[in-house]
Formats: sequence, structure tokens, C-alpha cells
Amino acid sequence: MKIEGLAAIVTGGASGIGAGVARVLSGAGAKVAILDRNVEPAESAAKEIGGIALPCDVADDASVQQAIAGARDIQGPARILVNCAGIDTARKIASRKSGAHAIGPMQRVVDVNLVGTLSCCAHASHGMLDLEPLDEEGERGVLINIASVAAFNAPNGQAVYGASKAGVVGATLPLARDLARYGIRVVTIAPGLFDTPLAGTMDEALTNQLLRRNLFPKRKGRPEEIGALVQHICENQMLNASTIRIDAGFF
Ligand SMILES: NC(=O)c1ccc[n+]([C@@H]2O[C@H](COP(=O)([O-])OP(=O)(O)OC[C@H]3O[C@@H](n4cnc5c(N)ncnc54)[C@H](O)[C@@H]3O)[C@@H](O)[C@H]2O)c1
Repeated sequence: MKIEGLAAIVTGGASGIGAGVARVLSGAGAKVAILDRNVEPAESAAKEIGGIALPCDVADDASVQQAIAGARDIQGPARILVNCAGIDTARKIASRKSGAHAIGPMQRVVDVNLVGTLSCCAHASHGMLDLEPLDEEGERGVLINIASVAAFNAPNGQAVYGASKAGVVGATLPLARDLARYGIRVVTIAPGLFDTPLAGTMDEALTNQLLRRNLFPKRKGRPEEIGALVQHICENQMLNASTIRIDAGFF
């Protein structure tokens, strides 16, 4: 699809990868709506790119429905959804020192990273079903989800986070199957380590240990490098139903 003039929704666009994606999509001519639970940074990120910000907790289905409807009222129906909202947790499932992993934070990570992603996919794609196709192939829209290499190879303490992201990877093919008849593609991106506030909460020793596992380059990625991949996925119709790793060969 040609991005110019299309409405796009970026969840988690107030910070990090989402903010980078929002900048790239806006640079390509999209009308960008940032949906984030963090209202002030969302508004300043939106202002920077001439977009709009709407408060949204992706783990709350009513909030998702309301925010997507709000974006539609202002910018028209979204043809692009990029699910960047996500949270991390680093805690072993059980240890002598800290006991069993508490259920509360476990549930929240799955609710935000997995259920939140699916809820946004459901409401955004529902809004696309009856839109005019954009081209003679019948394309109506694209859903792009941010998972993680942790879906395949999560380090110690990331069983819950890795499971939430593996769920997103696992949903990609059936989502694409459900939506293919409407001309809606679904692609997941699995990033390695990227330079964002979320990655900054990791201790330095673990960060360096993870970066040593990059083949090349041995640095954190930049949010715009994911933005560039998002732009390519939008523009390249043959990308569908798959998960693309962007991880400097992390192993
Ligand atoms: N940074 C990395 O190295 C890395 C690697 C792999 C995957 N990821 C994934 O990329 C995504 C973005 O991460 P980031 O590093 O940019 O993090 P970040 O903390 O910089 O940004 C995440 C954004 O999501 C928003 N958010 C969190 N929970 C939300 C909720 N319930 N509803 C709405 N918004 C919510 C936050 O307010 C924030 O603006 C996440 O899904 C993360 O798991 C990041």
C-alpha cells in the first residue's frame, strides 16, 4: 500500500520503538494516532509529528474500542495498526531467595503484551472490513505487531515475557488467515535489543551479555530501524503471516 494520506494507529507511540515508528510513518505521509496510557508523553510525541494522541490502556478492551473509534472520528478509518505497547518483567519463575513468581505481574504482562495486542487487532481490523479496497488486489489494511526475539530465545527471568511474545508470534498466521478474505495482512516483528527507555531498565551487565550475542553489529538497534521495517511491510504486499526478526543475528 502507499502510505501517503492513510490513517495509522501506533499503540505505545509515546516512547521508544512506538515513537520511532510514529515518526517514520508520519514522515512517509501517514496521519498518525498515538494510543498510549501515558498521556503527556503521548501528546508531546504526537505534537512533534503533527499527529494526535488518545489515552488508551491496551489491556482494557473498552478503552481500546473507545480510542480506536476516537481516532477514526478525527483522522478517518485506520488502514495501518502497529502494536508497540508493551511491558517487560525480569523475574525467575521461582527461586529460594524470592519465592514463586507472583500471579499479579504475570497476568499483567500477558494482558498487555498478548491480550492487548489481540484486542487492538480485533477492533482495528473490524473497522477495516467494509472499507473500500485500496487497490485492484483488494488490499484494505495491515496489522503489524511487535513481539521480541524473547519469543524464541528468552534469557533467564523472562519466562513470562517470552511466553507473552511467543503468543503474539503464534497468533500471526491464524490472524492473517482470518483476515485474508478482507485483504488485510498481518505481520509480526521480533526485535533484538533496541535503545529505548524499556531496554534502559535492564542492568548493564545483562545488557552487555545480550549484546555479545549479536553477530553484527554489537550495538542496540535504533527505533527508526524498526520504523523503516514497518514502512517496508506496509509497502510490500507480499509480506504476510510471518514474523520477521530484526536482531543483528542475536542467537
Ligand atoms: N527495547 C527493546 O529492546 C525491545 C526488544 C524486543 C521487543 N520490544 C518490544 O517493543 C515494544 C516497545 O518497547 P519499547 O522498548 O519501545 O518500550 P517503552 O517502554 O519505551 O515504550 C512502551 C510504550 O508502551 C506504552 N504502554 C505500556 N503499557 C501500555 C498499556 N497497557 N496501554 C497502552 N500503552 C502502554 C508505554 O506507556 C510506552 O509509551 C514492547 O512491546 C517491547 O516488549 C522491545
